[in-house]
Amino acid sequence: MPVTVMVAGGAPLGGEVRVPGDKSISHRALLIGALGEGTSVVRGLSDGDDVRRTREALAACGAEVHHDGDVVTVTGGRGVLHAPGAPLDCGNSGTGMRLLAGLVAGLDGETVLVGDASLSSRPMDRVAAPLTAMGATVTGRGARCRPPLTVRGGELRGVEWTPEVASAQVKSAVLLAGLAASGVTVVHEPVRTRTHTEELLALAGADIDVVDDGAGRTVRVRASSLRPFDLIVPGDPSQAAFWVVAGCVVPKSAIRVRGIYAGETRAGFLGVLARMGASLDVATRTEDGVAPSADVAARPALLTGTVVHASEIPSLDEVPALAVAAACAEGTTRFVGMGELRVKESDRLEGAARLVGAMGAAARVEGDDLVVEGVRRGGRLRHFRFDSGGDHRMAMAAAVAALAAGPGESRVDGFSGVATSYPAFLQHLRHLGGSARVQLVAIDGPAGSGKSTVSRELAARLGVARLDTGAMYRAVAWAALERGVDPSDAAAVAELARDAVIDPGPPDVVIDGVDVTGAIRGAGVNAAVSTVAANPAVRAVLVERQRAWAAAHGGGVVEGRDIGTVVFPTADLKVFLTAAPEERVRRRHDEAADGISRRDELDATRAASPLARADDAKLVDTTGRSVEDVIEEVLSWLR
Ligand code: DC
Repeated sequence: MPVTVMVAGGAPLGGEVRVPGDKSISHRALLIGALGEGTSVVRGLSDGDDVRRTREALAACGAEVHHDGDVVTVTGGRGVLHAPGAPLDCGNSGTGMRLLAGLVAGLDGETVLVGDASLSSRPMDRVAAPLTAMGATVTGRGARCRPPLTVRGGELRGVEWTPEVASAQVKSAVLLAGLAASGVTVVHEPVRTRTHTEELLALAGADIDVVDDGAGRTVRVRASSLRPFDLIVPGDPSQAAFWVVAGCVVPKSAIRVRGIYAGETRAGFLGVLARMGASLDVATRTEDGVAPSADVAARPALLTGTVVHASEIPSLDEVPALAVAAACAEGTTRFVGMGELRVKESDRLEGAARLVGAMGAAARVEGDDLVVEGVRRGGRLRHFRFDSGGDHRMAMAAAVAALAAGPGESRVDGFSGVATSYPAFLQHLRHLGGSARVQLVAIDGPAGSGKSTVSRELAARLGVARLDTGAMYRAVAWAALERGVDPSDAAAVAELARDAVIDPGPPDVVIDGVDVTGAIRGAGVNAAVSTVAANPAVRAVLVERQRAWAAAHGGGVVEGRDIGTVVFPTADLKVFLTAAPEERVRRRHDEAADGISRRDELDATRAASPLARADDAKLVDTTGRSVEDVIEEVLSWLR
């Protein structure tokens, strides 16, 4: 997933998408499946990083988890699960960590739960407290018990617990621990939160009982032996919210999102949008058993500001998307009681206000409230630059904001976080007619100047694809030698290039089905390639393919001799690498010094797009510098 994405606004969106399987349900299906005595079959599981971590964590605890296309099977049971030998890495997922804490509290022995930097800064005291009250020992860093979290479980007893802040994660952790506790475990919720754990526990035959009381709910569970189940995970409403909002705010759009979970605690954002005047068509289906799902069609309408209470959207996951809708609306929208947004993957209260401001509307934080002044009257949306800080929801909200902002390209940094929850997001954006691209970086320079090393590392750091155009010229030279075509027979080599199917990799360079990754670095090709590359007709063919490659990848890092001058004269960044001749010879130890200088001479003096530095290319002398040092300098130009 690219780190930085440029999203263009101004075009209407249209079509249908199916968002990833709901993350909340996916985590719970895996956990409860792992507790079932037998094999559960789950379809449509979220394919994001978060859920993958939970899958791996359960496997580390002894469950057998198999993945076959869209179908995941989980085989577990009380007799199978055990405390894992190594820490469980929950990555970025607060849900994963809190729910796993509840599950491992019921296992004998000690489990350590770790996460990435963002998760490591999130408080775990709200799960630690009830699990401790049940007899587990839970320790973390500081007063708020931040990860790494160590849970020593076994011998639990039921408790009666009222979470101080409404939280489905805390409720679920307590209920999962309750399955292994003596007596009854009771959770009183002052405000109802998402009910997936209760629904799935009921499906798995747990001894569970749920009573609604006013705005809240009481859930009771006793130690139970669970049975396996089959489940189709419906689409994630919090991901659907991005497309529904896009349908409401991008002029002349018509978007249908299919099969999204439509249980009462998750569809609050639809009510908010409807109140703002959105044109929504919601078709609900309930035949999927425990998981009612809906198709939602959204079209633009004149939106007006409203007041949104946290209780309408208990997880607050849809607030960033709704803030974008509010920015596009007429009047003021007040999001009341949003303090919890501060402790999500990033401070989303600050982030949402910053995004709204960046797109040309106004926002302020008043205590725990977010107040958005929409632009409908007077103001104008504009394209912008926004750093999501790696928070996936902020990045996706910013992409929707960019689509709504009218003509022009917006830049969203920290986009790679989207891989945690919605790997196909950009694919879906393009499928709906939106345009998103990554930066195009041109790296030119003579042989041995460090192009390959720098471009490889740079592409990895930017999360984008890399094209070695030299490998394409080399592949054509190899094919000419292989087929007995004289490299200086311009017409014959050009014909060969036109007819050849070249896959430049990485990792493997393949021409007409033959893997030539190693062969193109040999002495024969070294000697012939400059002649082949000086052939204007060959260049015409390969340059066209290089441009097609970039179009297909939406950008990337491309290295060669003429990338900044001829192939991509409008590249976002052009870098021209050089190095002292002795150092270049040393780096190309497999090629004779006189061979390299002859090749450089030919490449730099030929008539057809010779090796040259573009006027606007940054010059970097890599002599005696570390790769890291050069990469940092190049990255600094992209920031
Ligand atoms: O980068 P390299 O050494 O693998 O490139 C092999 C040859 O291909 C090089 O001698 C010049 C030629 N080349 C070119 O003319 N234009 C490019 N864009 C890339 C390589």
